[in-house]
Amino acid sequence: EKGGYDHFMIKEIFEQPKSVADCLRGRLNAKNGHLHLGGIHDYANKIVNADRIVILACGTSWHAGLVAEYIFEEFCRISVEVEYASEFRYRNPIIGENDVVIAISQSGETADTLAAIDLAKSKGATIFGVCNVVGSSIPRVTHAGSYTHAGPEIGVASTKAFTAQISVLTMMALMIAQKKGTLSESAYRSLLVELETIPEKIAKCLDLNPQIEIISAKFKDAANFLYLGRGYNFPVALEGALKLKEISYIHAEGYPAAEMKHGPIALIDENMPVVFIGTKDSSYEKIVSNIQEVKARKGEVIAIVTEGDTDIAEIADHIIEVPHTHEALMPLVSVIPLQLLSYHIAVMRGCNVDQPRNLAKSVTVE
Ligand code: M6R
Repeated sequence: EKGGYDHFMIKEIFEQPKSVADCLRGRLNAKNGHLHLGGIHDYANKIVNADRIVILACGTSWHAGLVAEYIFEEFCRISVEVEYASEFRYRNPIIGENDVVIAISQSGETADTLAAIDLAKSKGATIFGVCNVVGSSIPRVTHAGSYTHAGPEIGVASTKAFTAQISVLTMMALMIAQKKGTLSESAYRSLLVELETIPEKIAKCLDLNPQIEIISAKFKDAANFLYLGRGYNFPVALEGALKLKEISYIHAEGYPAAEMKHGPIALIDENMPVVFIGTKDSSYEKIVSNIQEVKARKGEVIAIVTEGDTDIAEIADHIIEVPHTHEALMPLVSVIPLQLLSYHIAVMRGCNVDQPRNLAKSVTVE
C-alpha cells in the first residue's frame, strides 16, 4: 500500500504532481479561461460582497490559510484574518452576518476547528469548508465548500493536503477576483496559465530529491533550525519548521525574515542552520541582505532559490534551485524541498516519520 516507498510520507510527497493536478481537474482550463468551483458557485456573491473573510484552521491547514490571506487580499481586495481555531472559539470573537468564514481542514474532524465553525455559524456568518476527507464532519456543518481531492493522506505530517488546500484557495480567490473586477483580465488569464503548470514544476522539485538527501546528511545532527521567508514565502517558512519539528524532533522556528533583527538574530552562530526561502520575487533584494546578515554571524545557510539565481548562490552555503513561477503561486513549489529535507533528516535520525511520537493524524479532542 506504500507503493514501493519506505513511508507514506515520502509516497505522499511524490504524489503531489498528481494530487495537485487532480485538484485542478475539471475546475480549471487555462486555454479557454475557464475556472469553476462547483461547491462555492451559489455563494460566490456572498464572498464578493463580504466585509471580511475569517480563516479558521490549525497546524499546517492554518499555514495554508496564511498563504490564502495574502492571495485574497492582493487579488480580491477583501480584508482577511487568519485565526487559530483554538483561540477563536474561546475569545468571544466579533463576527456576524457580513463575514465569510473559510474553515480549512485535511481530516474534517479537528475538534477545535469544528467548535470554531459552530460558534461563527451561531453568530450568522456564512461558512465555507476546504476539506480533504469526503463526508467528514466539517463538510457536513458548513454552508458550502470545495474538496481538495488530494486522496487519502496517511502520514501524520501533512504534505499533499497542504498543496491541494492552497490550490483550492487560489482558485477560489481568482474566481472572486474576476467577479469583483479587482484583477485585470490579462493578469487573471496569466495566473490561470501559471496555475496549470504547477504540477510540472512540483515534479521538477521532486527531481532534486538526491541533492536534498545529501544536504540533509550534513545537518541531521543539528539541535536547532531557523526558517526565514518574506511575503508569500513567510508561511512556507512556518510550514518548513513545523514539518521538521514534528517528525525529526529538532527544534525549529519559522519567522518572517525581517523579524530576525528583532530577536532571533541573537541565536545565530556557526551551529545554527538557517533555511532561507529566497526565490525571485518582489522581496528578493531584501532577502539577499537578510542572508548577508546571517553569514556575517557565521550561520550556515541553506537557500531555496529560483533556477539560475546568482546573487544568493554566491553567499549561501547550499542552494536548492526551484522553477520560477508567479510569486503568489510560489508556496506550491517552494514548500516541496522543505518537505523532502524534513523527511530525510527524520529518517537519518531513525525517527518514525509516519507516526511521530505524541501526535495523531486528526486531533479530535481539544
Ligand atoms: O486535519 P486538519 O487539517 O484539521 O489538521 C490540522 C492539524 O492538526 C495538522 O495540520 C497538523 O498540524 C499536522 N500534523 C501538520 O503536519
